[in-house]
Amino acid sequence: MTMGKPITKAVIPAAGLGTRFLPATKAMPKEMLPVVDRPAIQYVVEEAVKSGLTDLLMITGRNKRSLEDHFDREPGLERALELKGDKDRLDAVQHASQLGPIHYVRQGEAKGLGHAVLCARQHVGNEPFAVLLGDDLIDESENLLTTMMEVQQKTGGSVIALIEVDPSQTSAYGCADITAIEGEDYVRVNSLVEKPAAGTAPSNLAVIGRYVLHPRVFGVLEETGPGSGGEIQLTDALQTLAASDGEGSGVYGVVFKGRRYDTGDKLSYLKAVITLASERVEFGEDLKTWMKGFVS
Ligand code: G1P
Repeated sequence: MTMGKPITKAVIPAAGLGTRFLPATKAMPKEMLPVVDRPAIQYVVEEAVKSGLTDLLMITGRNKRSLEDHFDREPGLERALELKGDKDRLDAVQHASQLGPIHYVRQGEAKGLGHAVLCARQHVGNEPFAVLLGDDLIDESENLLTTMMEVQQKTGGSVIALIEVDPSQTSAYGCADITAIEGEDYVRVNSLVEKPAAGTAPSNLAVIGRYVLHPRVFGVLEETGPGSGGEIQLTDALQTLAASDGEGSGVYGVVFKGRRYDTGDKLSYLKAVITLASERVEFGEDLKTWMKGFVS
């Protein structure tokens, strides 16, 4: 067991084109789609901050300026709300700009998640770091990322988060072949495959959008050619690390059984919005009453 360098950096890839949400995302980043009253990306930034990560790097691209604006101050709006005495909205507006500082780097070309993570190399340097994908929202009552960071510190390797999915769903994810480790609540990842064809998945354990990576992944990503969908896949780089020896090798998995909301496609997004809205004290009960009537 090695105690690694403490983890302070979070990389948040947000350069995707959002094609699954067209035309809504024609002129607006998919990360800005509201989940109740906050853009989806804010939940992810809040999770990173809650997990103790203090150095946030967002990987953006063309047409993503509203992401930077959202996490910036807005003095004109703040003054107007202050004059009106609208403290709740003022707090909400200021909160988004108090999560940072957030650093930004552009991906330039949408060449895949692996390539997006590689864009973080200079900023991250030679330290383990977290990666949070905006399509997955983890309930704020969960401690998934903290657990994963502990596993990284303990093992010195890279850590992924896995969920059990129905076998019919595996082709939408990266999938892992794992072995239990006696006495531990995390598992060893033997191999990984990105978006396996139907019927070929090594298990029904699917990779979700939280990673804690050893910086050795950068060197591997540099050597990783296009994979599934013609893109440079983070899963392929992790497969290489799972199969290598030496410092920074080894991939471990935390099997997550808690509450997660997928916002990556239209139907899951709608379910996420309704689930989170139904839990809001201000209007959750009204919404549920309305839904019962609506359904019948
Ligand atoms: C990415 C990863 C995939 C993972 C998924 C989780 O895929 O490549 O391994 O299972 O995120 O959300 P994407 O959904 O970006 O196609």
